[in-house]
This record gives sequence, C-alpha cells and structure tokens, in this order.
Amino acid sequence: MLIAGNWKMYKGPEETAHFCRQLREHPRPTEVDIVVCPPYVSLATAVQVLAGTDVAVAAQNVHWESEGPFTGEVPAPMLRELGVYGAIVGHSERRQHFGETDEGVSRRTRAALAAGLSVIACVGETEAEREAGEAENVLRRQVSVLERDENLVVAYEPVWAIGTGKTATPELAQEAHAFVKSLLDVPVLYGGSVKPDNAPELLAQPDVDGALVGGASLEVDSFLAICRAAIHS
Ligand code: PGA
Repeated sequence: MLIAGNWKMYKGPEETAHFCRQLREHPRPTEVDIVVCPPYVSLATAVQVLAGTDVAVAAQNVHWESEGPFTGEVPAPMLRELGVYGAIVGHSERRQHFGETDEGVSRRTRAALAAGLSVIACVGETEAEREAGEAENVLRRQVSVLERDENLVVAYEPVWAIGTGKTATPELAQEAHAFVKSLLDVPVLYGGSVKPDNAPELLAQPDVDGALVGGASLEVDSFLAICRAAIHS
C-alpha cells in the first residue's frame, strides 16, 4: 500500500518544516509506503527534515529534458540531486489549467523513470466524459501512453471527485482500477476526496493499491489516519 499526499500549491518551507517535524515524531504504520509531495520550493526542506525516516518526498511535476531553455520547469536530475524520490505526472490540474497533454505525460514519465525517479502518473475522466459514457475510452487513451515499469504507479483520479467532496463509490473505484490494470499491469492508487472516513472502504477494494490524497494530506492527523486505514486493506 502506498499513501501519497499531494500538497498542491500549499505549504512553503516554514510550514513544510513544521509538518515534517510532526510527521517524523508521530508513530507511522511501517507496512505502508508514505510519500509527501510539497511544492518545488519546499522539497529541500522536506528532504532534510525527513532524512533518516521511511517517509519519501516527491515533486508534483517534472520536465522531460535534463536541462535547457525551459523557463519555469524543473528536470529529473535536479530533483535527484535534492534527494527527491519521485514525481507526480499528469495531474488533472496540470491537464486542465496548464495544457498538459498525453504526449507530455508520456515524455515526462519516460524521462523521470530513466533518471531513476519513481512516477505517480495520474489519469481520470471528467464528469461530462463519464456522463457521456466515455470514461473507459478516456482511461484507455490516457493509459496508452504509459509503459509498464517497476517504478511506475498510476493514480486513478476521477476529475469530478477532486476537491469536491464527491468521492467515487468503492464499487466505481474498483471497476475503474480493474479496467486500468487490464490495460497496464502496475499498482493503481485512488484519488479524489479521500478522507479518513471513506479511506477504509476505498482501500479495501481488491484493485485499490493505495491513495493519492489532496486536501486531507495537509493535516498530519488526517493524513496519518488515512495511512493507518491502509494497514489492513
Ligand atoms: P483531493 O485531491 O483529495 O483534495 O480531492 C486529490 C488530488 O488532486 O490528488
């Protein structure tokens, strides 16, 4: 089981240090892989404060070139140099607001894996796509640009469930995860309004291998409650 906290555009270095100190001191389930994904400017702080613990630090994006004239982007070797373990790629907010394409997701993922980073590649349909009966086609298209790798996991995040408080039912999540796994044999995390109260049921589904948590990962207590929910799932 893998539980990753996607902090999005929250927590600068100071808040990150505070959060990571708390996380370091709290008892954590050792059988669950725990990852935090702070904004770029807070990665170094998170790596430092969590050094020597079993909590890994990942970035929220990564560029496909190793260096070059790409203003505002950050490449995999620089993340590796910081001691960062992996990166999220293709989050729906990148796709919706910053023009991320399947082609970009493919290039970022390949480059990150080649540089030795682990990747959480995000897929998921919008509400309109689900209502139009297009969910499986969208997933098929998004997953088709990815290749199996031992350091790759996919996060299934239905866009209509992200930050909305509308969680997919465990049955819907299970069905989507099984479908993704039929396309690509990698672990699949669920994401979209995962909270301590719905985590046990979602994580209990046979093809749910963990969670990518946004809002509820910003507080140590709720994040760890979700991590504990993963123990017996
Ligand atoms: P949420 O975000 O848990 O706040 O819905 C999940 C995500 O965007 O990864």
